[in-house]
Amino acid sequence: MASLLFPTGRTALPRASARLSSLARPSYLSRRFLATASDPNDGSTSSSNNGTAIVMLNMGGPGTTDEVGDFLSRLFMDKDLIPLGPLQKYLGPLISRRRTPKIQHQYSEIGGGSPIRKWTELQAREACNLLDHIHPSTAPHTPYVAFRYASPLTEDTVRQMLSDGVTRAVAFTQYPQYSCSTTGSSLNEVWRLAKKYDPTNQIKWSVIDRWPTHPGLVEVFARHIEESLATYSPSEREEVVLLFSAHSLPMSVVNRGDPYPAEVAATVWAVMQRLKFKNPYRLVWQSQVGPSAWLGAQTATTVEEYVKKGQTNLLLIPIAFTSDHIETLYELDLEIIGDAKQPGIKRAESLNGDPIFIRALADIAKNHLENAGRSTPQLYLRCPKCTSERCREQKAFFRQQQTEAAAT
Ligand code: FES
Repeated sequence: MASLLFPTGRTALPRASARLSSLARPSYLSRRFLATASDPNDGSTSSSNNGTAIVMLNMGGPGTTDEVGDFLSRLFMDKDLIPLGPLQKYLGPLISRRRTPKIQHQYSEIGGGSPIRKWTELQAREACNLLDHIHPSTAPHTPYVAFRYASPLTEDTVRQMLSDGVTRAVAFTQYPQYSCSTTGSSLNEVWRLAKKYDPTNQIKWSVIDRWPTHPGLVEVFARHIEESLATYSPSEREEVVLLFSAHSLPMSVVNRGDPYPAEVAATVWAVMQRLKFKNPYRLVWQSQVGPSAWLGAQTATTVEEYVKKGQTNLLLIPIAFTSDHIETLYELDLEIIGDAKQPGIKRAESLNGDPIFIRALADIAKNHLENAGRSTPQLYLRCPKCTSERCREQKAFFRQQQTEAAAT
């Protein structure tokens, strides 16, 4: 097996913890790090079964420049993310081969690889530690990471979970706002793998499908914005334009009825409410590729146009990513902010290891488990123009799983 993620015992996890470890660690976390998953003295009461796997779903990123080719190849072969029609089998590898050198260069510019695995593993581990204390009836909570296009791949994770004897799992999307291209693609993959490797349904799944306005998410975004605004002079501060930037979608996906644009807008509105609408703001969209129409306005163009209009105090906020990766470290920091050469154009820090964000993750999982593992009703509604059999079967699968998970 290519990847052994968090082999059975939590104590096997690395303890690197950037921002969290630099702050005062709550006493229950300190105890937890020293304990095994079944320590009877840590205040939690483990359930009689073998606990709950918390599976963080995300797209992932190449850990080294050598992994870029495989990463892109998987990405361009994913019909849920980039539908290329009946020739996808040929076009996907062709496009990925052509793009590999350019993307390798971008990763080399940000240190040689994506930090998304480091951050996701940290978030998973710390959230599970907290969850053991705030929801002991489903403990021990064991962290897993399942990436769609990079190691640890969803396939390796599902096989590892089966071998670990997992019987109850929460598929926890790390995309706060739902898109069929992102969370939908990961769920289609989990469904496909469950059918392939788990025909007896050893693992009962439930799904946390979206959390665009969770108060902890809103709070951590708002605080990072406030921290950045504090770096401007008092006379400039309220004039800074907040540019919330999210990954764009092709208009064909938007017009199919994808919920993502509305949910990203919901996050932006909630954050602005928390900030009392003190600053002007716009929601803009980044990372468009290819010649087809994509949702705009584009982040890069927006920055250029505002600079031309004399507005040179701009704060970019990555609003749909939960950690740094190429779209923040290269596209926003080096391409857009670097090229603009304006000291007033800055970026708010990503969520990464912020303890407020970790607490939000634990709270979202706790609420889900208290609510008998229910997803939002939105999960089961297909896009009005969806014609995908994968989507239909995936939704039927998870609806059935939810019923069975609630009974465990
Ligand atoms: Fe949205 Fe299938 S594309 S449910």
